[in-house]
Amino acid sequence: MKNGANMKLQICQLCKKYGSKVALDHFSFDFECGVYGIIGANGAGKTTLMNLITDNVKRDSGQILWDGRDILDLGKKFRAVVGYMPQQSGVYGEYSAREFLRYIAELKEIPRKKAKGQIEELLNIVNLKEVAHKKLGGFSGGMKQRVLLAQALLGEPKLLILDEPTAGLDPKERLRLRNYIIELSKDRIVFLTTHIISDIESTANEILLMKNGQLIKHGAPQALIAEVCGKNLDDVYMAYLGDD
Ligand SMILES: Nc1ncnc2c1ncn2[C@@H]1O[C@H](COP(=O)(O)OP(=O)(O)O)[C@@H](O)[C@H]1O
Ligand SMILES: [Mg+2]
Repeated sequence: MKNGANMKLQICQLCKKYGSKVALDHFSFDFECGVYGIIGANGAGKTTLMNLITDNVKRDSGQILWDGRDILDLGKKFRAVVGYMPQQSGVYGEYSAREFLRYIAELKEIPRKKAKGQIEELLNIVNLKEVAHKKLGGFSGGMKQRVLLAQALLGEPKLLILDEPTAGLDPKERLRLRNYIIELSKDRIVFLTTHIISDIESTANEILLMKNGQLIKHGAPQALIAEVCGKNLDDVYMAYLGDD
């Protein structure tokens, strides 16, 4: 496990309300190297959790520590280790895929020469090399999704946060992405939300089940399945979240 020693994200009693609506309710968990699959019905608080970790939304209370230091104190240093693929995003339609990645690399302050190599490598990985010069405005949903994934991977982030990364991908693309995520997770923390539960079963080391902003259950996929005497994660979902 490379670089695993100094890589730990600790979330402690994290809370967020929107008006009177509790979106995240005293969420606590420690994350180390590996893939964490976050499952929950719409409105369970998955995106809120990710927005808080990426500091796109202000928390009400609680702590988020990276290697023991609060991410708000780390500021730019923390942002440099995070790659975020948002659930929905206005991708700049007038940019070509390559231009868009260059632009994000600049925002991330990746040195130009390094960025150039990475961009070409990532375009290959997400299978967009051929259309890299074309404007994003004309891309299909799945192609935009792959551009968003590529931008999240720029700068070799230690913490990769993917909100519904497989949405809009066809089965072949989903399989490719799944295998790639497994490869990536060897030396980083990967968070993944999805409503396609079968995607997570073979990818995640640990599953977190969320309901009403709370973490209600977690464990390795096979352990959770055994606990409910189920066949697959769908059975786990039904057992804990079935009435959602
Ligand atoms: N910007 C917002 N303003 C008001 N309510 C919000 C906002 N974002 C999320 N919520 C509410 O917080 C709860 C959790 O939402 P969210 O984190 O998006 O859930 P999930 O990603 O699991 O579907 C929901 O009840 C949602 O309506
Ligand atoms: Mg969401």
